[in-house]
Amino acid sequence: MEKIILGWTGEEVSRMGLGIWQFSETWGVTDYKVAKEIIRTAYEAGINFFDTAMVYGDGLSEEFLGRAVKELGIRDEVFIATKIPGQYLSRDDVIRACRKSLKRLQVDVIDLLQVHWPPLWHNFPTCEYMEALEQLIHLGLVRYIGLSDFPVELVESARSCLSVTDIVSIQIRYNLIERDAEKELIPYALAEDLVVLPWSPLAKGALTGKYKPDNLPEFQDVRGRDPIFHPENFKKIYELVRLLEEVAKKYNKTPAQVALNWLMTSYPNILPIPGAKNPKQVLDNAGACNWRLDFEDWFKLDQASRAIRIDRVL
Ligand SMILES: NC(=O)c1ccc[n+]([C@@H]2O[C@H](COP(=O)([O-])OP(=O)(O)OC[C@H]3O[C@@H](n4cnc5c(N)ncnc54)[C@H](OP(=O)(O)O)[C@@H]3O)[C@@H](O)[C@H]2O)c1
Repeated sequence: MEKIILGWTGEEVSRMGLGIWQFSETWGVTDYKVAKEIIRTAYEAGINFFDTAMVYGDGLSEEFLGRAVKELGIRDEVFIATKIPGQYLSRDDVIRACRKSLKRLQVDVIDLLQVHWPPLWHNFPTCEYMEALEQLIHLGLVRYIGLSDFPVELVESARSCLSVTDIVSIQIRYNLIERDAEKELIPYALAEDLVVLPWSPLAKGALTGKYKPDNLPEFQDVRGRDPIFHPENFKKIYELVRLLEEVAKKYNKTPAQVALNWLMTSYPNILPIPGAKNPKQVLDNAGACNWRLDFEDWFKLDQASRAIRIDRVL
């Protein structure tokens, strides 16, 4: 498995991670045995960066990840990233939330603690929660901190609150269909030596080739209200999916592998975290690493994806 250096930290992790929102009612992996096999398969394929969050399955995702890592005896070889939701960002919330995560994960220290999203409904001053996160580093409970779903202006003000450390990563929605991160966040992260963790890098499965205009995920599924899967939008996306299939054939790869590879070919500081519901998907996604699309194919996909306009208000 190819590796990536986590910005200024010098830490080396796998070039691609595993997203663990899937261990939840929302996505359906609620059987611990399946979850453990997913973690084992990822680890054996060389993936050692795991992204979970306190809100995934109301703690179930952290619990399953921690238990699997412990039972497999791989704690020292994996990098565990989790997140505090935007409504738990008073100083005390941050400390208490971290304490709960440590317990669910059954670890002494969290490798990367991210703010899941900025506070929306409470007026938590930015420096209050950033200083609390830094305090967790002083206490040896957290190694690094990161931000998720923050605009650049707020990233800058959050960083200005820190005294002895800096953030390591920014997590944001980024895939071949949804490319807003290229406008501001990715260039900023490149200039500042920060790693970008694209979430929904497969556009929640839309780029894998298995969904078609006449075969979309069920409405009650997490994707039911996602504009990507609205029939009007998916018709436009399907052109790109067919191109992914064509390019995949040429390289003897799958559309999912090509879609993930396109992200990593585009920028050196990208560490995608695709989610997987079974070991087969993990292995498929791991096959996105250790090779590169040539320029012509990268460009074809770039142009096809630029031509798509997703209507969010339908
Ligand atoms: N920070 C944030 O706000 C935020 C938000 C969302 C997600 N995340 C993180 O990002 C991770 C990934 O995002 P995501 O789960 O939204 O979307 P994703 O990774 O784009 O898509 C995951 C889904 O695609 C399907 N899939 C995955 N690999 C496949 C393969 N090789 N072949 C066929 N189908 C495949 C599976 O669903 P089906 O089999 O049902 O199609 C899987 O659940 C999450 O687990 C989470 O850690 C963070």
